[in-house]
Amino acid sequence: MPNQSSQRIAVYPGTFDPITKGHRDIIQRAALLFDKIIIAIAINAGKNPIFSLQERLQLVQHEIEALSTEKNINNLSVQTFDTLLVNFAKQVNARILIRGLRAVSDFEYELQLVGMNTSLYPELETIFLMSSERYQFISSSMIKEVAQLGGDVTPFVSHFVAQKLLEKALII
Ligand code: COA
Repeated sequence: MPNQSSQRIAVYPGTFDPITKGHRDIIQRAALLFDKIIIAIAINAGKNPIFSLQERLQLVQHEIEALSTEKNINNLSVQTFDTLLVNFAKQVNARILIRGLRAVSDFEYELQLVGMNTSLYPELETIFLMSSERYQFISSSMIKEVAQLGGDVTPFVSHFVAQKLLEKALII
């Protein structure tokens, strides 16, 4: 393992409301490429998340533990942030940002994001991973809608997340 200063630390940011199998796929693949992956949960109040920050943190922690036990992936951690993403990246000494690309429709937004982040922090390199084919069409919003209308979400999220979605659907 390289020493602390030469470690390739990557940040994988998102709202994770909730974390999906699509996110998990990106995390798992990124973990093989970098020394350390920090999953960064944005508070993102503007998106009106249905899970509180604490709940989203718990869901991501659960996925990290599952990846450790099932896949022996042990270079993952999670943190929350309520600042500019670039400032968070600086704070944790990360020079790499991971983003997943699902479809052409993601491209325009990602281009804007990378443009803004690069002008704010030129040393930050964004690496895009194409989502695996079977997760190309999913999004957290769509999964929440399916859960709220009583559909089966287990193809798209872990059983733990599916259970939490069910509990939310019963409350709402
Ligand atoms: N598989 C499945 N779904 C995926 C996915 C994947 N691989 N990657 C993304 N998604 C989904 C997400 O669940 C989300 O779904 P939703 O919109 O239905 O909730 C959607 O795609 C968008 O996700 P993402 O691109 O990760 O955006 P986000 O809104 O979750 O997070 C931040 C965006 C946090 C990176 C951005 O808002 C940010 O950097 N905020 C911090 C403040 C800041 O620095 N602002 C200036 C940036 S220019």
